[in-house]
Amino acid sequence: MRLSVIGCGYLGAVHAAAMASIGHDVVGIDVDAEKVDALSRGLAPFFEPDLQKLLEAGAASGRLHFTTDIAAAAGADVHFLAVGTPQQRGAHAADLTYVDEAVEALIPHLRPGDVVAGKSTVPVGTAARLAPLVEATGAQLAWNPEFLREGWAVKDTIEPDRLVIGVGPDASAAVSALRRVYAPAVAAGTPFIVTDWATAELVKVAANAFLATKISFINAMAEIAEVTGADVTQLADALGHDARIGRRFLGAGIGFGGGCLPKDIRAFAARAEELGRGDSVAFLREVDAINLRRRDRAVELVVEGLGGSVFEKRVTLLGAAFKPYSDDIRDSPALDVAARLRGLGADVTVTDPAALDNARRQHPQLSYVDDRDEAIRGADAIVLVTEWDAYRRELTPEHASTLTDGRVVVDGRNGWDAAGWRAAGWTYLGMGRP
Ligand code: UDX
Repeated sequence: MRLSVIGCGYLGAVHAAAMASIGHDVVGIDVDAEKVDALSRGLAPFFEPDLQKLLEAGAASGRLHFTTDIAAAAGADVHFLAVGTPQQRGAHAADLTYVDEAVEALIPHLRPGDVVAGKSTVPVGTAARLAPLVEATGAQLAWNPEFLREGWAVKDTIEPDRLVIGVGPDASAAVSALRRVYAPAVAAGTPFIVTDWATAELVKVAANAFLATKISFINAMAEIAEVTGADVTQLADALGHDARIGRRFLGAGIGFGGGCLPKDIRAFAARAEELGRGDSVAFLREVDAINLRRRDRAVELVVEGLGGSVFEKRVTLLGAAFKPYSDDIRDSPALDVAARLRGLGADVTVTDPAALDNARRQHPQLSYVDDRDEAIRGADAIVLVTEWDAYRRELTPEHASTLTDGRVVVDGRNGWDAAGWRAAGWTYLGMGRP
């Protein structure tokens, strides 16, 4: 099929490349000429495993093109909207400017029978608002949220765990078009859920709200563990054996960040307020607050570990990205902790295998060192904030001891073996661990 993808950020670039890889003829469209240029040359503009390979293969096959010209969308059977919906400045609601602009720009190029499929995460009610504009051209509007995780985006796009298609009344043509788009996944038995627009929009925000709540739940337990001497990691293991609960997303630590969970729960709460149902998701404000408190706690632990003050102490942060296998620093708890320590007068050094260029741009006041061991050399305290393998698995206390005389580690991801560090003579401080 011929497809257009409007917006070539994390979501759109991966979607375009993945759709070309399963045999479609795809044009990706973005207003950012630099991004389009990189993608056209087969270069991934951000770190995402396997994306580079797919871009190269797409360019070689002649089935994947990128342009800044929205007119290139004309003639596609399905037009995917994959633009960002960031948090509004100074408010919690989502900023829909890019979605509105994309639809407006696309309208003149739609033909009767085309399908517009929204993938962006939007407040419930957005599709119903946009539908008359799209339908006036004879095209149909579907909402088809994505659930991809950064670092797994290619796999999550090609082999999703479910496909959700929200449509308006009489939209069977849109459903069959999307069934054809996703034919390989459908043939593999992927659940294909056809529903209305509002439900499809809600599935996405409800999923993210649930995941955020699960993380904040265990982080709230970490706060209780801290005043009772309990160990939240053992608690999580024990809870996780209950199949109804499950162990995933019960990792206590400095909490969630990134371009999705924080802004999505805030936008959801803001939308619920508008709908007169603020009380129904009032708990999301608590989820957000617990999450942010854990960053304070990590800072407190470093202060405590260094005897009450970090002033002029050398503190090395292992990690800048909001999670491993990503160079994304949007709302990164790691960098937030780094910046706060710097604010307290610490001499902060940050290292990360992928995110340093992005981090430098956002926090020029911090010092950055590419090499892990160089970053650790001479540190008074080491803080694990992003659980890359190079830190969590591969850095041993014995090796760290050869790099510095400092003997304090703060494990912001509960990724290390406390007993091992202690046995090697280190003061180990975890999150919600004795
Ligand atoms: C998330 C959703 O998982 C995905 O389905 C949605 O489409 C977009 O938002 P992503 O932002 O890529 O994906 O990251 P995810 O892997 O969900 O992690 C989010 C944050 O939670 C990270 O900062 C991570 O470190 C943190 N986290 C995750 C924890 O603190 N504890 C955990 O147990 C799991």
